[in-house]
Amino acid sequence: MPGFDYDTIDVDDYERYRPSYASEAVEWFKRRAGLSPHARVLDLAAGTGKLTRALFAAGMDVLAVEPSAMMRRKLAEAIPVERVMQGTAEAIPLPDESVDAVTVAQAFHQFRLNDAIQEIYRVLRKGGHLALFWNVYRPGDPTKVAVDEIIDQYIPPEIAVQAASGIWQEALRSSDRFESIEGRAFPHPHTLPAARLGALMATSSDIAGLPPGPRGRLLNEMEELARSVSSAELTIDAGTRVDLFRRMIGYQHTTG
Ligand SMILES: C[S@@+](CC[C@H](N)C(=O)[O-])C[C@H]1O[C@@H](n2cnc3c(N)ncnc32)[C@H](O)[C@@H]1O
Repeated sequence: MPGFDYDTIDVDDYERYRPSYASEAVEWFKRRAGLSPHARVLDLAAGTGKLTRALFAAGMDVLAVEPSAMMRRKLAEAIPVERVMQGTAEAIPLPDESVDAVTVAQAFHQFRLNDAIQEIYRVLRKGGHLALFWNVYRPGDPTKVAVDEIIDQYIPPEIAVQAASGIWQEALRSSDRFESIEGRAFPHPHTLPAARLGALMATSSDIAGLPPGPRGRLLNEMEELARSVSSAELTIDAGTRVDLFRRMIGYQHTTG
């Protein structure tokens, strides 16, 4: 659902309960993309700055683009406000070939893919890198299984926004603008207070986009699941996945 308005979610809950990204993943991205210590990196769809903050802490010259005003307010607590820009993936407010790398964390699947791929290609320098960061979960993790069973009753898997689906991979491949370099996953367990499971789920765009009735019922079921957990904290067996691509030096339209 491109352009979902994240202004309707609780950004404080988003910042508190959504997972961050493994520092090993950020280090690997820096090394594998051959970034110099002060490389200019655009964090696109930066949200509250969960990845932006880590890139900044790693010494990179980071700029962040985010369409939601509420998200941007929180983002300005993570990095200096002059580095935060209003914009979208389909209209990036930067000049041509002005950044060494573009990162997108847990958002690429929400873009209008063809327009976004063209824009990312435009702002990246020749041979620059695109790194897609994702929160991934171990198949069979009991909490994730229980959560998905509830969500599937309200949002059929075939219409849910699928971060893992092949749609974005195919769009990148068929654009002829990027070559795939490598994908890597790093362990990054996600721990949160058990009682806040519903608050975490309410920050998902799929769930926030439901009509009030089903949304309320889904969140009640999450609260019930949280009450069935005997410990004060929940740990979900999770990780950070990075898919790394390199911008082609030139673009030649191919046929056939
Ligand atoms: C799941 S959040 C991820 C935020 C952040 N990158 C993170 O890892 O926490 C998805 C973000 O994508 C942004 N977004 C949605 N559609 C977008 C678009 N077309 N262009 C740029 N950002 C977009 C939303 O406003 C939201 O901040």
